Amino acid sequence: MRKTLLATVLGAVLPVFITGAAAQSYPDKPINVIVPFAAGGPTDVVARLLGEHMSNTLGQQLIVENVGGAGGTTGMTRVATAEPDGYTLGVGNMGTQSAAPALYANLKYNPATSFAQIGIANYTPQAIVAKKDTKAKDLKEFLAYLKADSTKLSYGHAGVGSISYVSGTLFNSQFGLKPALVAYRGTAPALNDLVGGQIDYMVDQSLNVIPQIKGGTIKAYAVAAPARLEALPDVPTTKEAGVDFIFSAWNAMVAPKGTPKAIVDKLVDALNKALDDPKVKSRYSELGSTAPEAADRGPAGLQKLVDSEMARITPVLKEAMAAEKK
Ligand code: MLT
Repeated sequence: MRKTLLATVLGAVLPVFITGAAAQSYPDKPINVIVPFAAGGPTDVVARLLGEHMSNTLGQQLIVENVGGAGGTTGMTRVATAEPDGYTLGVGNMGTQSAAPALYANLKYNPATSFAQIGIANYTPQAIVAKKDTKAKDLKEFLAYLKADSTKLSYGHAGVGSISYVSGTLFNSQFGLKPALVAYRGTAPALNDLVGGQIDYMVDQSLNVIPQIKGGTIKAYAVAAPARLEALPDVPTTKEAGVDFIFSAWNAMVAPKGTPKAIVDKLVDALNKALDDPKVKSRYSELGSTAPEAADRGPAGLQKLVDSEMARITPVLKEAMAAEKK
């Protein structure tokens, strides 16, 4: 009887003790960071940039693993169902963390409840871009060209549920366009095909397309933001180009739900230090991206963004898709 009682008491106390000790020595081995899209794309670029800085703060390597497929939901499902020990993290985005539930009836995670939120990583406006030999000289002419016979054209995106899918769905439905939709495992391979001329246009994150716009290998018609980007001073905003279409993307870092608070706190601190680093800031600005303000950082800021974005995007997306079916 005494033995049983002791075992019961120890059984209740030990896990808490072990969890506390594990949190104190955390991290004592490399941390796996799942990027749910192809290498070289916007999510990957952000994860590697922040991961490098966070590795220095935490004293352990953050190792990026690209797990593409199903618009990023395959990788984020892996994160949601991983051991909540701080050694598996994920970098999702506005698509995987707010739009996906509207697009997948059987999604295995809920962006609002299946994760320990760590924080917003960045915001990036979308840009409207086309293959380089597209003749239209401005956005209005480009829209006229698209409207003339969009069924002959193709739009590249990173899979159903990704940001480029969502922004494309909203753009195409707003202007009555019905291009062939071509899915990739991320917008890095989609952009390669845009450069190669295999697809016609994309509405993609400035973070992804700025180097190609600057290099003249694709054509930019507008940034879907309220103000021009420092990195693209010659590219007008959609409003300046006479078109009412604004779309901003974001990335965020999460861990599986149940990750001990002491571990989440260490990750939040490391992420915030990375966001304040001058090198990260200048790389963000070269790529048309911005870091969250101090008040929006950490788990509470991300939770608020996920909740509000899910509430905003779900009806808009459903309406756009219903209109597309007509
Ligand atoms: C998206 O469209 O969701 C992203 O651009 C995907 C990626 O990071 O490749």
